[in-house]
Amino acid sequence: MGLELSGVRVGFAGRSVLDGVSLSVAPGEQVALLGPSGAGKTTLLRVVVGAVTPAGGTVRADGTDPSGSRADLTRLRRSIGCVRQRDDLVNGLTARTNILAAAAHEWRIGEWVAVLMGGVPRRFAERLAELARRHDIEALLPARVERLSGGERQRVALARALLTRPRLILADECTSGLDPVRAAVALDHLKHSGATLLATTHDLSVARSFDRVVALRDGKIVFDGKPPDAEEIERIYGRSAPEEMLA
Ligand SMILES: Nc1ncnc2c1ncn2[C@@H]1O[C@H](COP(=O)(O)OP(=O)(O)OP(=O)(O)O)[C@@H](O)[C@H]1O
Ligand SMILES: [Mg+2]
Repeated sequence: MGLELSGVRVGFAGRSVLDGVSLSVAPGEQVALLGPSGAGKTTLLRVVVGAVTPAGGTVRADGTDPSGSRADLTRLRRSIGCVRQRDDLVNGLTARTNILAAAAHEWRIGEWVAVLMGGVPRRFAERLAELARRHDIEALLPARVERLSGGERQRVALARALLTRPRLILADECTSGLDPVRAAVALDHLKHSGATLLATTHDLSVARSFDRVVALRDGKIVFDGKPPDAEEIERIYGRSAPEEMLA
């Protein structure tokens, strides 16, 4: 799925948060989104998924305006997988049900019953098993998500985002709470999903594993290209970094 943002402006309480952001992402392209805390990265992802309506500019995801009609947005959202910075799993439900909920719009009546009884509709069984194996959450599937650790929840949220094989994945710091091995597995899976990928990160080693890095600062794109070198990192964050960090 391709993305086209042009002159996007967002303000909260009179404060500019995205200030004329233009960004073009080709179908299948993978982009790491860097930038200081508060730069507007999460807001940018929220604009793409129609959760924030820009005050100006245009946004097209797969040719569709996410702030357009409700029907367009519903259709669009079904092709987008989101892993949010603060996961939005539903407490009180099991990991299994949370993951399957990504496809709730496809469930038939019998499948609703199966899921509510703690089961797995047959046509999702193989995909669920594959995701659970890959992200090491097999043993966690029957557990209520409020009992899981932060990293465990994050892996459940990742599996949920991938369940329906979305064509666009918006991953907001999706590896930040994971141990290094599981983080690498997660990143590898996202990159090999074939989907267009927009992944925010504060981890420079994660950013360096992308061919294209876009950086926001104060709501503006200040970098777009191959992974930034030390000097460019300084410009992005507006302060010098300890040398060992840039090694
Ligand atoms: N719903 C909101 N209402 C008011 N202000 C908001 C809202 N959402 C975000 N902001 C503000 O907009 C700015 C950008 O927020 P955003 O979450 O996009 O930053 P970010 O780049 O994702 O930061 P981080 O790296 O810390 O996650 C911040 O100053 C934040 O306080
Ligand atoms: Mg954020």
